[in-house]
Amino acid sequence: MTPIRVGLLGLGIVGGGTWQILERNREEIARRAGREIVVTRAAVRPQDLERAALKTGGRIQLSTDPLQVVEAGDVDVVVELMGGYEPAKTLVLHALELGKPVVTANKALLALHGNEIFATALQHGVMVGFEAAVAGGIPIIKALREGLTANRIQWLAGIINGTSNFILTQMRDQGMGFSEALQQAQALGYAEADPTFDVEGVDAAHKLSLLAAIAFGIPVQFERAHVEGITKLTAEDIRYAEELGYRIKLLGIAKRTARGIELRVHPTLIPERRLIANVDGVMNAVLVHGDAVGSTLYYGAGAGAEPTGSAVVADLVDIARMTGSDPGHRVPHLAFQPDQVRNEVVLPV
Ligand code: HSE
Repeated sequence: MTPIRVGLLGLGIVGGGTWQILERNREEIARRAGREIVVTRAAVRPQDLERAALKTGGRIQLSTDPLQVVEAGDVDVVVELMGGYEPAKTLVLHALELGKPVVTANKALLALHGNEIFATALQHGVMVGFEAAVAGGIPIIKALREGLTANRIQWLAGIINGTSNFILTQMRDQGMGFSEALQQAQALGYAEADPTFDVEGVDAAHKLSLLAAIAFGIPVQFERAHVEGITKLTAEDIRYAEELGYRIKLLGIAKRTARGIELRVHPTLIPERRLIANVDGVMNAVLVHGDAVGSTLYYGAGAGAEPTGSAVVADLVDIARMTGSDPGHRVPHLAFQPDQVRNEVVLPV
């Protein structure tokens, strides 16, 4: 089977994580996808060229022109990890118009222009994968789109911004000030380029609007969300909440009401015995309530190079399976074809 060839737009934190995973787990991923997934090209900023060449050991063709990567004949799928609205939007639309599937972690772009992007993808019969755009490594898009597809979703609620959860946790556990905790989150690569998106609830609202679109079958409607962040919270608020047996978490909530779907992001008091009250640091968690399944909870790292890269690669595997892999790989009943299983089961000692 011919490999699927990937062009990365951006080789920063998430791009680097994606590359590392594809290198390290190359064989296993190829067996799961039914074909190899090979990064052929990457576009980086001029100031990052040297670092990118070192990181990839000269095995990828690097360029400072993302358009060249999108249009390259040896790129079958485009992975947009540049962030921001432009030129990301133009490049994504252009890739789709060329019939190339796109994977993106860019929740801001999808929250504002997702309806146009998804419509363009549909028109050209190609996929847009965005598992990495919401809750880092948690496969929440897949859970909503596939696992829970039988359900009428009543509500969902989640900690979907790792940076603000990290800050709230550091303020509570380490008595750390807001700015110091934010600086730490930035140093760890969790925060957005503009960290006000994290602390003002905007990033969570971007993600919430995407989750709601899938859960409730509505267009992406970020502009209709009520958004309030954590910047007005003080260490005293957090301490008083603790004394009363509560934790303060920044929640994104989407709920079916008699009037329609309600979207809101705001700090919420949660009794400390609840599982979600104990989701700390950069971890994310999403509760989803469906009419058939009841309540379900998804937990995992919400940001960071490899957790987010893990979601990018999962979308690439889906695309590889659907475009050219043999039918047995499209919805495999096992992750591998039985004759390709390499690991032995051993008796416990
Ligand atoms: N800034 C985001 C967060 C990154 O902290 O959750 C992952 O989307």
